Amino acid sequence: MTRRRPVYEGKAKVLFEGPEPGTLVQYFKDDATAFNGEKKSTVTGKGVLNNRISEHLMVKLSEIGIHNHFIRRLNMREQLIKEVEIIPVEIIVRNVAAGSICTRLGIAEGTALPRTIIEYCFKSDDLNDPVVSEEHITAFGWATPVELDEIMSLSLRVNDFLLGLFTAIGIRLIDFKLEFGRVFEGDEMQIILADEISPDNCRLWDTATNKKLDKDRFRRDLGGVEDAYQEVARRLGIMPEGGPGDLQGTTAIQ
Ligand code: TMP
Ligand code: ASP
Repeated sequence: MTRRRPVYEGKAKVLFEGPEPGTLVQYFKDDATAFNGEKKSTVTGKGVLNNRISEHLMVKLSEIGIHNHFIRRLNMREQLIKEVEIIPVEIIVRNVAAGSICTRLGIAEGTALPRTIIEYCFKSDDLNDPVVSEEHITAFGWATPVELDEIMSLSLRVNDFLLGLFTAIGIRLIDFKLEFGRVFEGDEMQIILADEISPDNCRLWDTATNKKLDKDRFRRDLGGVEDAYQEVARRLGIMPEGGPGDLQGTTAIQ
């Protein structure tokens, strides 16, 4: 991996100390887990693809003024990011019913929702990331009401932008998960987008066939996980001719 000191290890990523204060190195593993780590495997090349896909989407979001933690890609599996104080809430944005909302509310998968729905989950593996309300978030002090308004409006802007971006390449953005964090610059505190945006934390269906091009292929044993991630990268125009191995050739930067 690297010689840097790890500061946090998650299920699909490791965070290392960065080269300068206020930075971290985000390393993307090939490990795939589902159902809170109950199901585990590796998907060859997933880390390389997610590193590249997340870079691409974060850069595009920066271009439309959505501040995020991405600084630059370092190599095939690592990107330099801003260190943030993570808000312990996962923001789920849903356009079409799929996954847990279907089982929780008895809705058929694929049903268009009457409007975009935002759900919040408390980030806790021990508790299996339970769904919580704005009341829980503000009462327990995970985020202030002002921060939560900002998070909600940023999440909807991300959704509008990504819906357009994916529609243009024949992909339906069904739902996705975002995480936000605080950065401090002097006395100023800002909420920025953190974590990653990739087929690990989005549901992406082919517009013509509704074929799943995301981690549900792993969760539900549908096969073709690597091909699906590669297909997303290819449609985004970031898949090198020779496949993900070729990303080594573009080893960035630093
Ligand atoms: P869900 O339908 O299982 O609640 O998932 C909603 C979206 O959030 C889906 O795009 C997958 C993503 N997600 C994560 O990124 N991490 C998780 O731990 C879970 C459960 C879902
Ligand atoms: N975060 C989930 C896990 O804990 C994976 C998922 O369903 O996306 O394994």
